[in-house]
Amino acid sequence: MIKPHGSDELNPLFVYDNELRHALLAEAETLPSLLLNSAAAANAVMLGGGYFNPLSGYMNLADALSVAEKMHTVDSLFFPVPILNRTSETGVAAGSRIALRDPNVEGHPVLAVMDVEAVESISDAQNAFMAEKIFRTLDPEHPGVATFNSLGDTLLSGPIQVLNFSYFQTDFPDTFRTAVEIRNEIAEHGWEKVVAFQTRNPMHRAHEELCRMAMEQLDADGILIHMLLGKLKPGDIPADVRDASIRKMVEVYFPPNTVMVTGYGFDMLYAGPREAVLHAVFRQNCGCTHLIVGRDHAGVGDYYGGFDAQTIFDEEVPADALELEIFKADHTAYSKKLNKVVMMRDVPDHTKDDFVLLSGTAVREMLGKGIAPPPEFSRPEVAKILSDYYQSLDS
Ligand code: ADX
Repeated sequence: MIKPHGSDELNPLFVYDNELRHALLAEAETLPSLLLNSAAAANAVMLGGGYFNPLSGYMNLADALSVAEKMHTVDSLFFPVPILNRTSETGVAAGSRIALRDPNVEGHPVLAVMDVEAVESISDAQNAFMAEKIFRTLDPEHPGVATFNSLGDTLLSGPIQVLNFSYFQTDFPDTFRTAVEIRNEIAEHGWEKVVAFQTRNPMHRAHEELCRMAMEQLDADGILIHMLLGKLKPGDIPADVRDASIRKMVEVYFPPNTVMVTGYGFDMLYAGPREAVLHAVFRQNCGCTHLIVGRDHAGVGDYYGGFDAQTIFDEEVPADALELEIFKADHTAYSKKLNKVVMMRDVPDHTKDDFVLLSGTAVREMLGKGIAPPPEFSRPEVAKILSDYYQSLDS
């Protein structure tokens, strides 16, 4: 199987030894506590599950600046996005051991224990430098920039030991997976070539066919549909609804044992190209050999060019940085001429009118009124689940 990023074996930071985990939970009750923000908590969940291999904890300021600038830590480890524990609390001392509490679970249970190696202050200029590099904009209306600017000016760095997976395991018991579990399942399937499909949306016909095309063109053994289960911007479809619609689509339209429907516990960054590279890193850690990157991958609004998340792999990711390969997909849509979903680059004779193209807003409006989008756009079973959801919002 493909090696994880940066090491021969995956080193998840979750404490799998039960006795040790219980001892750490007891110790945590005696330690000073820090209530994390959701971004730092999501980082802990990802570190716990092995997704951010080979990191051993939160980055310090020098690494954060270096990663933001050139996607490498000071020690030359390739990493696309700074993995940070930022806070507005100023009372934490360097050299201390602290309990990190979960902001997303009632009662704020301990999520991880941290050895604080450094406590550093992020200046406004350093914050802006990082935001501009990560998001390619400083516009405070950009949802990722807005979150990034709100996380606090104090940076705590150092190794962590993760004690649970926040709300993800309890809320999404069938879907949440660690990278360790995904590797194990891929091994059980006996799959060698595995294509990952990143998603934060329900899957319509174009997405379904994208998976099928990648699978066929790469002659892959299986597809990992891997959905984001963490926080999204207001208006995006909640994870349980997406999960139900994706499961239904896979059940009805894919042969058994060719697709794994899974999810990961991370908040959406909306960082377009940089997030696509992060997606590639953590799919390699999951044991996938390929990642589908299509149109406006991890984008929002008009902040990124439609295919910036593909070109970053050619222009900014060193050839030897990753073993996983990108399956670059062109804009995909149903062709009325050919009566099937196609990639636009494959049908140069088509004009815009030859495709079934619907905007997200139009689809939402139809579903909200109980009108199913055309079957060329959306499977009826999927449309039904989404329509029920949108109609429940109005009642
Ligand atoms: S993402 O933010 O999680 O990347 P989304 O769930 O909308 O967003 O998309 C999942 C994947 O499908 C991404 O790789 C995206 O680029 C790709 N994609 C979505 N719609 C299309 C389309 N019509 N044509 C080509 N690629 C698409």
